[in-house]
Amino acid sequence: MTVVICRCEDLTEDDIVEAIEKGYDELETLKRHLRMGMGPCQGKSCIPLAERILCRETGKSPDDIREPTSRPPNKPVPFALLASEEVDDHE
Ligand code: FES
Repeated sequence: MTVVICRCEDLTEDDIVEAIEKGYDELETLKRHLRMGMGPCQGKSCIPLAERILCRETGKSPDDIREPTSRPPNKPVPFALLASEEVDDHE
């Protein structure tokens, strides 16, 4: 059975396990190698799932797993907002 972990980048559990076996054994290196977490949802669903897989495959504790670097925008932003000249001081 194929288990999709990252819907945005179309990555399965097998893709992640294979990458870990190749030595990509940090969330940051998995992200860079597979583009996991770089889709429109910015990893909101796949990063926690990948963290579990990483712990299971490497025997690491969740406390030993570093969160991948997050870069703005941290949430999806409509292009119209980026193109507008109005500034919203509430965010
Ligand atoms: S599900 Fe992985 S980036 Fe959206």
